[in-house]
Amino acid sequence: MTVLQEDLANVDVASPKVYAEGVPHETLAALRKHDPVHWHPWPGTRGGFWLLSKHADVVAVGKDPDLFSSQAGHIALEDREPDALAARQSLIETDAPEHTRLRKLVSYAFTRSKVKEYEDYTRRIVGDLLDKAIGKETFDWVTEISEPVPITVLISILGLPQEDAPMLIELTSEMAAATDPDYRPDPAKYPTDVDPRLLPFGTPAAYHVFEYGRKIGEERRRRPTDDLVSRLVHAEVDGERLNDNEYSNFFELFIFAGNETTRTGISQGIVALMAHPEQLGRVAADPSLLPTAVDEILRYGTPIIYFRRTATRDTEIRGVPIAAGDRVALWYLAANFDEDVFADPQRFDVGREPNPHVTFGRGGPHFCLGSFLARLEIRILLEEILARNVRFELTGPPVRLSSNFVNGFKSLPVRVVSAR
Ligand code: HEM
Repeated sequence: MTVLQEDLANVDVASPKVYAEGVPHETLAALRKHDPVHWHPWPGTRGGFWLLSKHADVVAVGKDPDLFSSQAGHIALEDREPDALAARQSLIETDAPEHTRLRKLVSYAFTRSKVKEYEDYTRRIVGDLLDKAIGKETFDWVTEISEPVPITVLISILGLPQEDAPMLIELTSEMAAATDPDYRPDPAKYPTDVDPRLLPFGTPAAYHVFEYGRKIGEERRRRPTDDLVSRLVHAEVDGERLNDNEYSNFFELFIFAGNETTRTGISQGIVALMAHPEQLGRVAADPSLLPTAVDEILRYGTPIIYFRRTATRDTEIRGVPIAAGDRVALWYLAANFDEDVFADPQRFDVGREPNPHVTFGRGGPHFCLGSFLARLEIRILLEEILARNVRFELTGPPVRLSSNFVNGFKSLPVRVVSAR
């Protein structure tokens, strides 16, 4: 399908239902070509937002937090009242100097060298889950692999009891489902008196994550251990401790940011490899391709579709005037297929190099804290699949999430095939 320049004023690439059908690559390509700073109609401030689809613009705006703030408005398209913004403000929704203070508290747990320490543990988790799933011969990749891997790894880093894994998987799946407009939470299952406006994604499941995090925090305050929660409740930066609200928002951020994103990376990875079995064969024949394969999965699958900034002053991008207060969305899913940066961007190429994708942001202060961890989990998954000499095939249609934020899948029915 060719999208014509004159049709672009009315295209919709932001409704969740669009992504339930698939990624609108043709329209995003037309936007990059004809209207890279695109005014997209959308309810709320001035009736629309600026959609940036070019790699260079996404990078430049991400690096300019003075002009394009993460704190001045919501980081999702939907506007929020000031009380709702304040109630759930965390690291990702702050600008310097507050952002610098908060990031200093947690960055130690996610450095390249620290993440290496999680390798053996992650390999055990991934290996056990793969063996269990492979034993079933046909299974749903999302529930058997994508969902449990990231949360089980996080449980160890945060220092949570392993037996809480099923409950946390359920709560986080509920939070992910809440990005789907068809989502209807069951009030009996997740009772709370808190106004849903004040909760992440408006879901009562988020309240239970808060509550759970609060209790764990109290325990660690009394009996510190050597984990991230203890560190968060005891750490001092510039003589100050996190207050209760800051701590709870951090906990919630980790549970969502470290989980749903990587889950989607794992789903996207298997989808790409099932569609391109020869690419898995290339990595099997030459494991030195593993690092580039992981980055190509992250580019091609772009788990997070966009994050938003809010303009703090009148300015312009590519000569297009942007007014103070306007919403500006960094459409990672468009920038990762920019023909000016990636040769033949629709080709899935496990040897692609260089691969300066914007999947984790790029170069700005909010650059993903968990990028080494996410890469580790996906690399280990590939290694463990190769070690078992198997590949996978779809046995039915993949079911995509109806979300304009997470490029995810609800279900991926697969069967195991010998790779020999
Ligand atoms: C494939 C997996 C992942 C993807 C695609 C991803 C994507 C992103 C993106 C695009 C941002 C930038 C947000 C912005 O500019 O406003 C971000 C920030 C962040 N990510 Fe990730 N992420 C992933 C995995 C993880 C993991 C495993 C963790 C670890 C717990 C994590 C924790 C965070 C945190 C805490 C931030 C906020 C950083 C800040 O504001 O300074 N992410 N992520």
